[in-house]
Amino acid sequence: MDIQTIERLVSEELASDPLKLLHVRNCLEKADELALIHHGDRTKVRIAVLLHDITKLLPLKRQQELASHCMGPEDLENHPREVWHAYSAACYARTRCDIQDEEVLDAIRYHTTGRKHMSLTEKIVFVSDAIEVGRTYVTDDLRELAKMDLDQALIQIMQDDLEYLRARKRQIDPLTIEAVNYYLETQGGH
Ligand SMILES: [Fe+2]
Ligand SMILES: [Fe+2]
Repeated sequence: MDIQTIERLVSEELASDPLKLLHVRNCLEKADELALIHHGDRTKVRIAVLLHDITKLLPLKRQQELASHCMGPEDLENHPREVWHAYSAACYARTRCDIQDEEVLDAIRYHTTGRKHMSLTEKIVFVSDAIEVGRTYVTDDLRELAKMDLDQALIQIMQDDLEYLRARKRQIDPLTIEAVNYYLETQGGH
């Protein structure tokens, strides 16, 4: 499926929520900027960003059904519900848009939790989703850090996420904890 068709599909799927559509547009802008700075693959990043939230408006039941074409039901149950849309979106990309590039699919699948050993495409999508211009609570410092040191920005975003979830006693995806430990160990936190 070509990129114009994917763009049309995204506009259709998210038509009922203009703010969500705006979020995707903002993410595209940020991801393109970061891909340029950090020498990422702009096409892969663009496709992943376009599709990352495509199932977000679907009821959880429908997300489960969609994801079941790509994974067992128990695989989804291991993750907090807030994360299900990432898995259903990756499955949507594979089955409906015929995206078979695993790097693009992983960038969609892990855009909320992150994980260990992320590719550059995954990192750019993850960070862009977190710091796009519509995220008004994000500091300029973090946005600058993302330009200078993507891994340090990644660590900070994950740590902020963990703090936010812990403060609200919400379920934490083990992938994020694993990822923070991994990146702190390999990159060192400042
Ligand atoms: Fe998302
Ligand atoms: Fe998003």
